[in-house]
Amino acid sequence: MPKVTVHRKAHFNAAHRLYRKDWSDEKNFDVFSKCSNPNFHGHNYELIVSLTGEISKETGYVYDLGKLKDLIKSEVEDAFDHKNLNIDVKEFKDLNPTAENISVVIYNKLKKHLPKDLELEITLYETPRNFVSYSGD
Ligand code: NI
Repeated sequence: MPKVTVHRKAHFNAAHRLYRKDWSDEKNFDVFSKCSNPNFHGHNYELIVSLTGEISKETGYVYDLGKLKDLIKSEVEDAFDHKNLNIDVKEFKDLNPTAENISVVIYNKLKKHLPKDLELEITLYETPRNFVSYSGD
């Protein structure tokens, strides 16, 4: 059967601060500039979750996008939306919440609930022009 990629878009708003505890405020600002602002700041994150696999002969689907919507809601939106990533989300307790690291955390949260034969890719927009993608390597 042909391999097809299906996509689901989602959205969450969250605050973060990029910094390393073991660096001075000055060095944090040199590296992360405004994103190291001690009082945090927010982003409107846009998420695209992509699944690649063979079309099921039985259903004609690669994966039920309604199920994917529910999975993204429970694993990502409920966990991240209107949260402070540094303070409220345990995965970032000791992990800098860059778009890169957020995309890996989202990948790992979703991957364990999806069929093993589907390839998963995460695309995460931190701003309309800055975005990252991760597919598990
Ligand atoms: Ni930022």
